Amino acid sequence: MEIELLVQEETPENVIEHSKAVYKKAMEIASHFDNADKDLIRKGALLHDIGRSRTHGITHAIEGVEIARKYGYDEDVLNIIERHIGAGITESEAKNLGLPVKSYVPQTLEEKIVAHADNLISGSEEVDIDFVIKKWKRRIKDSDDNIERLLKLDEELIKHFEE
Ligand SMILES: [Fe+2]
Repeated sequence: MEIELLVQEETPENVIEHSKAVYKKAMEIASHFDNADKDLIRKGALLHDIGRSRTHGITHAIEGVEIARKYGYDEDVLNIIERHIGAGITESEAKNLGLPVKSYVPQTLEEKIVAHADNLISGSEEVDIDFVIKKWKRRIKDSDDNIERLLKLDEELIKHFEE
């Protein structure tokens, strides 16, 4: 079970609590979609930050993929972990960040749901989209493109279902 893996890898307790909250939020978002693979979302949401057992830097997504691969998880779970940072990292942003050069933008519905659930959970608390926008403006240099992708995800996964 995924929680046991988090414990086994000595993932910090607050990260485990965060991951449970992201899982809950992801399932809430997934409830709008008949075609969402709930079992895949559960695995991806609970494991998305397992790389934080090694580093809290941006490479925790890449470290996380390595750990999950070791436990035999499929590519679809690994891709959720690799593409969960923010609203995704483009190939050119990856180059600037010194990451292995490729796109880390979430592609599948399940990848998008976990990435966006993670955006909407700060620590273990739910936050609204305005909170996230403010935080990104503070923290990310030239954040316009990131925020544009964030709003697109929010439209597709959340706003679309609101009255
Ligand atoms: Fe993360």
